[in-house]
Amino acid sequence: VRIFSGSSNPLLAESMCEKLGAELGSVTLSRFKSGEIYVNYEESIRNCDVFIVQSLSHPINELFVELLVMIDAAKRASARTINIVVPYYGYARQERKSAPREPISAKLVADVLTTAGANRVITMDLHAPAIQGFFNIPVDHLTALDLISDYLKSLNLANPVIVSPDAGRAKTAEKLANRLDSPFAIMFKKRPAHNESIVTHVIGDVEGRTPIIIEDIIDTGSTIINVIESLKERGAEPAIVCATHGLFSGDALERLSHSHIREIVVTDSIAIVEERHERLTVLSVAS
Ligand code: R5P
Repeated sequence: VRIFSGSSNPLLAESMCEKLGAELGSVTLSRFKSGEIYVNYEESIRNCDVFIVQSLSHPINELFVELLVMIDAAKRASARTINIVVPYYGYARQERKSAPREPISAKLVADVLTTAGANRVITMDLHAPAIQGFFNIPVDHLTALDLISDYLKSLNLANPVIVSPDAGRAKTAEKLANRLDSPFAIMFKKRPAHNESIVTHVIGDVEGRTPIIIEDIIDTGSTIINVIESLKERGAEPAIVCATHGLFSGDALERLSHSHIREIVVTDSIAIVEERHERLTVLSVAS
């Protein structure tokens, strides 16, 4: 077995290797002046089971092509199997057509990864679990829910309520509520435009409670800010915001410095500079 890292999250790849008592393999990842990507494994990987760790975070298109080139190089170097560890699977939010003449980019990404030569995918908390079925190769779909719920248990909160920020996340919120033995509430939202959302109504009792919002992705932070405002209006205490994937595009972290957010909990599925937010907790999914 040989493990290599793309450039998205080398620290996570190193932590994974530490847990396994393995050494991270050496691979050259560079760019030509034209921007084209160059990859070279610095050791023989003939007949090896190769694991490539690459989250499809920022800059996604660059990281995606880098992963493809890494797969191709491994295939041409006669690796026995090519296993891609993609903690954050980008393009997952385009998993269906919601308007005519749109692509299904999550399926396209799956097809291209498979065509390039991937034999197995290990990923985590896909935006839509059905994306597993977009692949005709094995997909290990892991979850950070236990990691997050163990952390929340350690906080010993007096009066929590688990909050699903939209109807789509209700199942996850219910699972977390069961793990923490807490009540849960569901918010309903509509999206007037990409990266914009409005809370329309809430089912469940949040007044006087500490909301624990559970999300898959925090991108621009606009969903969370709307949820927080709406919880505040309904008399909830400052909230704990949890998400597996902290994308934090643009100035999201600055926007999330909201007085009604007590803590933001994410994982290292995406590399984050923790110092960017004083109330940010990053849990490691290396194990
Ligand atoms: C959407 O359905 C996802 O689950 C997240 O709610 C969304 O992608 C978060 O994006 P943003 O932070 O830009 O509102």
